[in-house]
Amino acid sequence: QKVAYLGQVLHFTGDPSQATNPQDAYQYFEKGALIVDKGKVVKVGIASELDALIKQSKVIDYKDKLIIPGFIDTHIHYPQTEMIAAFGEQLLDWLKKYTFPAEKQFSDKAYAKDVSDIFLHQLLSNGTTTALVFGTVHPESVDALFSQAKSLDMRLIAGKVMMDRNAPDYLLDTAKSSYDETKALIQKWHNKDRLLYAITPRFAPTSTPEQLTAAGQLKEEFPDTWVHTHLSENKGEIEWVKSLFPDRKSYTDVYDFYKLTSDKSIFAHSIHLDDDEVATLASTGSSIAFCPTSNLFLGSGLFKLSTMKEAGVRVGLGTDVGAGTSFSMLETLNEAYKIIQLQNQKLSAFEGFYLATLGGAKSLSLDQYIGNFETGKEADFVVIDWGGTPFQAYRQSKTTSLHEKLFVLMTIGDDRNIHATYVMGKKQFEQGMAHPATKSL
Ligand code: GUN
Ligand code: FE
Repeated sequence: QKVAYLGQVLHFTGDPSQATNPQDAYQYFEKGALIVDKGKVVKVGIASELDALIKQSKVIDYKDKLIIPGFIDTHIHYPQTEMIAAFGEQLLDWLKKYTFPAEKQFSDKAYAKDVSDIFLHQLLSNGTTTALVFGTVHPESVDALFSQAKSLDMRLIAGKVMMDRNAPDYLLDTAKSSYDETKALIQKWHNKDRLLYAITPRFAPTSTPEQLTAAGQLKEEFPDTWVHTHLSENKGEIEWVKSLFPDRKSYTDVYDFYKLTSDKSIFAHSIHLDDDEVATLASTGSSIAFCPTSNLFLGSGLFKLSTMKEAGVRVGLGTDVGAGTSFSMLETLNEAYKIIQLQNQKLSAFEGFYLATLGGAKSLSLDQYIGNFETGKEADFVVIDWGGTPFQAYRQSKTTSLHEKLFVLMTIGDDRNIHATYVMGKKQFEQGMAHPATKSL
């Protein structure tokens, strides 16, 4: 049975920053309808023009709420859910002091299942329907996350961390065991339902050349899988990579040399790249996850969005929880705007919401499935309350354009604006729903 969701419907068909006129890059139907059948989009448009279809459908009227495609978080660590907001350190000390001890616990499958539950609920309650996710070094961590995501029918990309040096013993694998475990996980989960696998070396400093070779070999054997890692986040990290890989031209060249750059490779951060490195990402079709709250929280630096766009490198938005400080893509956009401001540039609300939806889908090479409401795409969407708080409602009552409404939403909005979240046409979150974390409190 078809369902017609009525409301103010917005989605993107292109990148507004590349269009001569931003209106050419999106469709907005103030009295709109989104028609869904068997988990897929049938049609989107002005409600009065879809009368015939609506008559055959069950109608759910969201009135003046906003209906947009589900947010896509292009970089996040689920095992760091519990350690968000860890005080006082930049990247390398933060990893040692807080991150590695937190990740230790994921050898316990029951623990991993509990955190997966809380994590996926956090995504959905923030309107995020797809994410590219780091597990820990333990294969069990990925089993737990994928099992939970499968029961929610989410489109999720994840992988087990590969890490065979420069971390505590309790978190190390070896080149051989990481190869074997990753291969087994790919065979078990990749392309099962909506789940996809990312080969996940943590970052160059925690992998030996042998392990990076194994990762490159896996990518060659399974060309359809993703590669997910960190790149050029912190100045001390970059110096460290130089000393560990003296034969390589640059940090990016390390990944390129080991055959880890590709049109399905996503490099989180990529803040301090030189021109050569940007050119390598562009020529290999690699993508970047821009992680504003994390880059500010760890004092990592200011991401150069316009440089990447000019070079033709695809960029998505990531929360990078737990270095990131929020699961909310709205709060992430708020911080993204400020990072761009500090460089005397502007991030329009249209570009912001594009990055959080279709831009993210494109950066993950998932735009054939998700990212907008084209006919046949998977029906992942969010119903947004413009006024998440009485004050927000008041502020919204003073707005005079769609751009202003969206800008206010991304600047002062958060999870209180998420009214409902649908995955494959099924409501998986509704405001007020019981939170799994409260079970144990
Ligand atoms: N670089 C290597 N590991 C990590 C991590 O867990 N978080 C962040 N932000 N950067 C990293
Ligand atoms: Fe990260």
